[in-house]
Amino acid sequence: QELKLSLEQIEKGGYEHFMLKEIFEQPKSIHDTMRGRLIVNEGVIKMAGIWDHIEKFKNANRIIIIACGTSWHAGLIGEYLIEEFARIPVEVEYASEFRYRNPIITDKDVVIAISQSGETADTMAALKLAKEKGAFIYGICNVVDSSIARITDAGSYTHAGPEIGVASTKAFTAQLTILSLIALKLGKHNGNLGNAEFMSLISELDAIPKKIEEVLEATHELTQHIAKDFIQATNFLYLGRGYNYPAALEGALKLKEISYIHAEGYPAAEMKHGPIALIDENMPIVIIAPKKGHYDKIVSNVQEIKARKGKVVAVVNKGDKQVSEMADYVIEIPETSECFSPIVASVPLQLLAYYIAVYRGANVDQPRNLAKSVTVE
Ligand code: G6P
Repeated sequence: QELKLSLEQIEKGGYEHFMLKEIFEQPKSIHDTMRGRLIVNEGVIKMAGIWDHIEKFKNANRIIIIACGTSWHAGLIGEYLIEEFARIPVEVEYASEFRYRNPIITDKDVVIAISQSGETADTMAALKLAKEKGAFIYGICNVVDSSIARITDAGSYTHAGPEIGVASTKAFTAQLTILSLIALKLGKHNGNLGNAEFMSLISELDAIPKKIEEVLEATHELTQHIAKDFIQATNFLYLGRGYNYPAALEGALKLKEISYIHAEGYPAAEMKHGPIALIDENMPIVIIAPKKGHYDKIVSNVQEIKARKGKVVAVVNKGDKQVSEMADYVIEIPETSECFSPIVASVPLQLLAYYIAVYRGANVDQPRNLAKSVTVE
């Protein structure tokens, strides 16, 4: 028992939990995911899995992304990325719904499965169905040689390294990195993305690991202070728009998975269609409001929340004024292109969920009732 404990201690590399270690690994894991693929000085993205089948992607009627849990959230951001840059229609579905609803799939469809473990039963079954119907199936997996990686026609590994904490962190940001690379590569290839814009986006992407380092440094203590004030919370609302709407969903999922506090993510504009009824002085609302991306609209959401005395935790860019002046807590992140902002914004939300869970005495690495990979239905 003692030996086992100390081995585990070594594996945790000085961190109290695997989850915290994995949160802090993100500058490196994102870098590893881009290594050998993003060659900024040559102005190219090299991805054999995509390149070897580029005609399939180019001629696809649409791309269908299937996944579960956190990977499904990454898929939603993938939809925004691929539609914006490659202009290929994208649909994102829960694998469990897709597999049982007799979906229309043809040999002109490309189906991308996103799975950290590569073993999720629903995702696997959905892929098999797509394959039977003649679609080209592509995998984005973290675990090398996993079942999904093996049945797909081609794929890209995320290279985030082993993820032990049940709540996914570094695998998620690695998935977003891969999806960004795919979207930019396809957009460049099919001519929807001009050279100048492509060049500026790839250098932005290349700078993300450095920005995550800054975020970790700047928000590690801050999120602990904020977390202390919310140990007794029973509900949380997470809001974001555009690319950061799925980031809000993921922020809420992190919190409920490990702290057992009920949390919901919503597109900020949908607040008025329901969640606003819940807002009072006891409702904490995490709002993702970077400068680029519907900022003005979010400002009015924050006004509406404050008028009802909700407690606002705002994730904003450095130097922000309007939202920051109204917010009860301000978390600053560096600016980046809107399309990469969920990668950066997710990090303080992971830390916030982590510390709230830790202060509530929860078993962060192995939350009750949850499994790292769900290999049964
Ligand atoms: C479980 C895990 C989640 C994960 C989901 C999908 O619910 O607890 O963290 O996002 O499965 O797993 P996958 O391995 O397919 O990404």
